[in-house]
Amino acid sequence: MWLSGGRMASVGRQSFGSCFRVLGRRGCNTAAVMPEAAGFEGVSDRSDLQDFSVCSSDSFWAAVARQRLSWIRPFHTVQDCDLSQGRIRWFEGGKLNVSVNCLDRHVHTCPERVAVIWERDEPKSEVKLSYRQLLEMTCRLGNLLRRRGVKKGDCVTIYMPPCPLAVASMLACARIGAAHNVVFAGFSADALAERIRDAQSSTVITVNQGVRGGKVIELKKTVDAAIQSCPTVQQVFVAMRTENPVVMTAKDVAMEEVRGHISNQNLLTVLTCEDTVCEPAGMDSEDTLFLLYTSGSTGKPKGLVHTQAGYLLYAALTHRYVFSYHDGDVFSCVADIGWITGHSYSVYGPLANGGTTVLFESTPIYPDPGRYWEMVQRLKINQFYGAPTAIRLLLKYGDKWVHKYDRSTLKTLGSVGEPINTEAWEWYHRVVGQGRCPVVDTWWQTETGGICIAPRPADPDAEIVPGMAMRPFFGIKPVLMDTEVYGSSCVSLCIAQPWPGMARTIHNDPQRFTETYCQPYPGYFFTGDGAYRSKEGYYQITGRLDDVINVSGHRIGTAEIEDVLNQCSAVAESAQLFGFSQFAQRLPKTRSGKIMRRVLRKVVDSELEGLGDLSTLDDPEVVQEIIQGHHDLL
Ligand code: PRX
Repeated sequence: MWLSGGRMASVGRQSFGSCFRVLGRRGCNTAAVMPEAAGFEGVSDRSDLQDFSVCSSDSFWAAVARQRLSWIRPFHTVQDCDLSQGRIRWFEGGKLNVSVNCLDRHVHTCPERVAVIWERDEPKSEVKLSYRQLLEMTCRLGNLLRRRGVKKGDCVTIYMPPCPLAVASMLACARIGAAHNVVFAGFSADALAERIRDAQSSTVITVNQGVRGGKVIELKKTVDAAIQSCPTVQQVFVAMRTENPVVMTAKDVAMEEVRGHISNQNLLTVLTCEDTVCEPAGMDSEDTLFLLYTSGSTGKPKGLVHTQAGYLLYAALTHRYVFSYHDGDVFSCVADIGWITGHSYSVYGPLANGGTTVLFESTPIYPDPGRYWEMVQRLKINQFYGAPTAIRLLLKYGDKWVHKYDRSTLKTLGSVGEPINTEAWEWYHRVVGQGRCPVVDTWWQTETGGICIAPRPADPDAEIVPGMAMRPFFGIKPVLMDTEVYGSSCVSLCIAQPWPGMARTIHNDPQRFTETYCQPYPGYFFTGDGAYRSKEGYYQITGRLDDVINVSGHRIGTAEIEDVLNQCSAVAESAQLFGFSQFAQRLPKTRSGKIMRRVLRKVVDSELEGLGDLSTLDDPEVVQEIIQGHHDLL
């Protein structure tokens, strides 16, 4: 082993030593923390409000839902949930339309406000769309889908890079009552086909080619290959992201008008023959808004089902209060729209709040490792939300790429997807944020719909400890359960009561939903993550439970071990597996940047036959490198 348990424990203590106090105000009134809470009786400070949101959850969520969402018909029941049965229902009786909430109501008040900034792969070629323009594009698409037979209750698969047309496609589905199933446009034909089949989509929306990091990606060809094994697919809408024509088949419908001149904004000129008015469908709160398949884990991907009102409300509220989003801010979540992070914080949260959201099409190192910060300067970004894997990568390129650009507009930095190690946290805070921007390490999952544990720097008396997700969001009641994994006891993170943003079920497999999330601890939502709670009540996520290892009798998550390894300058990234050590040039990662530990474990156990589905790997060749490295080691 590289390290003893004793060393590990002291590193843990060190990280708690360097606290970051954002504001020193105590006892500030509740309305300043959250205006929606102004009328709650007996609530005089932030801590009362947190208690109220959990203990009087119905009153809390009813008030927030009435104030934050625009309803066609009010709900009569706040919640009807029984976690032990897997029954989760919010705001029943209510009717609304998500696209109206994200677009029309802002068009009424501020039609020319910028809704989306498309940060195209080609540097310095951003395109801005106002709320009015995005509503028009959404309505045109909604009319096209309706005219071509897409009905309420259908599920449309969207295989597109982040761009306004992808957002309009999601919102057009919401407008006419269809569900969407966005598949990350880096997934292989097999991964795409499996998701189309499971979702039983008859309609797919794609682009001719994608462009990422200067490379052309043949998205339409991937769709062609995928639908060979998808008998349900009847039509594929194809928009033009590049000027290169693609072979069109009988099922394909071109979204482009024939134009003599194709501008570099061509994805914005689609469908001008369709009407810009599209009657929104009145949807029940619990109708499906979208399916999203989880990636990278063993077995068949799970199509998690999110519904209309509860999801939208939770995305909007967390967006506003975790990131301290204020009207007029420019918010940038650099996740792809194919992940839940992109759904909740590039699209639904910011748009429900009438915000300006950046859609990032490129990579952190194209054309150079200054890309993010040059973009921050050019677009005057106020909140930047990214993944630890990218932060670690950029840290290795050095500070000069950051210093080159003006980051004075930045107010909040966010992190998501995996534990952020202390070195990366410190760099993000000190170098990127110049020591003045709070870093919010946000813990959540595809299943939770939105952020569940995170610091809220705008709160009075807020404190942020590096590498800790800190405090539960309003309405969230985390509990830690003793559990046994691979013969070792560890502490598993559960959530004791339902919240509006949580997934309702797994598409086509409600039994699996109940078994996976509701039955391990009946009456609780089981997250599958390990966590630690400090004496102050702050939470630190230690990683997936099946990655927890036992070192010298200490229960230690992969996060803590990787944290120490990453502080070593020769180590760019690490993944720890049950006491096994091996140096490799690269680690097998999914396209969303998660290390596929299951593959490493199989290699270590010499179970090369059972490596499982590798279609979500960013570069499958890495697996061969690891196998070779392991072979050499033995
Ligand atoms: O293990 C946790 C890790 O990512 C998992 C959820 O992955 P996914 O559904 O793809 O959603 C990712 C974006 C929300 C969790 O079970 N995870 C996510 N955020 C954090 C994290 N682990 C530690 N710290 C975080 N901030």
